[in-house]
Amino acid sequence: MTIVLVGFMGSGKTSVGQILAKKLDLPWIDLDKKFTEKFNMQIADFFEEFGESVFREKETQLLAREIGKEIVLSTGGGIVVCKSNRKILKKSLKCVYLSTPFSVIIQRIKADPYTIRPLAIRLSQKNNNIDDSIQDLKYLYQERKIWYEEVADFIVETEEKTPMDIAKEILLKLRK
Ligand code: S3P
Repeated sequence: MTIVLVGFMGSGKTSVGQILAKKLDLPWIDLDKKFTEKFNMQIADFFEEFGESVFREKETQLLAREIGKEIVLSTGGGIVVCKSNRKILKKSLKCVYLSTPFSVIIQRIKADPYTIRPLAIRLSQKNNNIDDSIQDLKYLYQERKIWYEEVADFIVETEEKTPMDIAKEILLKLRK
């Protein structure tokens, strides 16, 4: 069974995925990491050179390759944007949505080096002030929330929980 973690950027998919995989004694795969290894390029640079739609095409191909494997898969926040990916995520796998309040997401994105978040870079360049960038990110968050909920077998609220707490909660839900 493939266990897939979805959620907005900064929701903890990577740290939770690593812990969960260890607890389940399964390999952990990070789709963004697969991408940078395959194309030997940071995602932000790929966006810059080829654009988001080519990134999404390649992301879909990488996703399709991992589905069906006995792994824990951490995905990129935009995995639900393409309808074809949502279709894949609704098939025979366990999909967990890490739901994090927007206010927490914003704090995390601000704390991260902007170079690893091409969408955050793009929005901050497009807008001259930080408030407009945050507003744009909020639209993206609201739009995607519906899609994460659509593909999820279950939802875990992550606020005020450590990655370890979240992984344990997922384990309990998987065993039910
Ligand atoms: C993206 C999120 C990123 C990465 C890419 C696009 C998005 O992953 O896949 O920059 O569209 O939200 P994280 O969610 O791990 O930051």
